[in-house]
Amino acid sequence: MTSRIMGTGSYLPELAVTNDDLAKIMDTSDEWISSRTGIRQRRLVKDETTAFMASEASKIAIKEAGIRAEEIDLIIVGTITGDYVTPSTACEVQAAIGAINAAAFDVNAACTGFMTALHTAYAYMAAGIYTTALVIGAETLSKIMDWDDRSTCVLFGDGAGAAIVKKDETGLISLVQGSDGEKGLNLCCKNRGNHHPFIEGDLHTYYTEMNGQEVYKFAVTKVPQCIMEVLEQGNVTAEEVKYFILHQANMRIIQSVAKRLKVSEDKFPISLDTCGNVSAASIPILLDKVNKEGLLKRGDKLVLAGFGGGLTWGATVIEW
Ligand code: COA
Repeated sequence: MTSRIMGTGSYLPELAVTNDDLAKIMDTSDEWISSRTGIRQRRLVKDETTAFMASEASKIAIKEAGIRAEEIDLIIVGTITGDYVTPSTACEVQAAIGAINAAAFDVNAACTGFMTALHTAYAYMAAGIYTTALVIGAETLSKIMDWDDRSTCVLFGDGAGAAIVKKDETGLISLVQGSDGEKGLNLCCKNRGNHHPFIEGDLHTYYTEMNGQEVYKFAVTKVPQCIMEVLEQGNVTAEEVKYFILHQANMRIIQSVAKRLKVSEDKFPISLDTCGNVSAASIPILLDKVNKEGLLKRGDKLVLAGFGGGLTWGATVIEW
């Protein structure tokens, strides 16, 4: 017994900010950003919250799956930018969509968040604990960006993607995931520091910091490696895979992965050009795009693969 994706949905904020828009407020250019990353535009929230975007994406996925919210027994959100420390975004979504019978919690695996959430849902189903999960990646990254740091803020965007996952005879074929905490500070956003009346408190607000070249090297090594591993584990060849749905961080990383796998770039759909890097939301947003374009049919084999802060990575082979 495994689990299968029955419906997808996504939500992107209305506000579209192009590279040229950024060049008006900081020392950057469309040429610099697009030639190094492939990103031309990102969507940024105005008054949307992480939970709102997650809930809107979920409603679409629920409708497509043809289920009622009450049937959902598990909600997992991959996010590093929840609206509250507590309640979790998953609990906020539960309330917003009326999934009154669900257990709900968030996972923090940065850009690998959706993969970790999907794998967790799968493990619960394989153990016979739950049957119908709502798995979400949702981020408001704009609020943890230093808008005076052009080397990071131009890369990221806001949005959410969701999938309904049901216990089934077919679906998830194999998975790998891992982490390397020793390299964690190459991509980080520090939380509030220690603070209470008996010490000098640290009330500083911290933003995202990145060693871009180290993260780049990590991605172009680890991502092809974990994809080869997950294909081998699932006894599936790269040729049999219809699409590789990769975390959308950088076009050059995706091209390098395609080359290492000896697979045509046509098999790597893209959303980073219009959405930027939406961390945990990137994979479900792209999966929903491909699905809504009618490019998937039952039985197609897909690889989903994510990587990012932690450092973390995760990949899965699924049958649609
Ligand atoms: N606009 C213009 N110039 C910029 C800039 C911007 N937005 N951001 C940085 N620069 C400048 C720097 O100040 C630096 O200038 P200097 O050489 O005069 O000091 C120069 O560009 C840096 O260039 P370089 O370090 O060679 O850039 P790069 O080729 O490494 O590209 C990244 C930078 C971030 C695009 C690249 O390292 C990368 O994609 N890394 C992976 C990041 C990633 O995917 N993170 C998310 C993982 S989930």
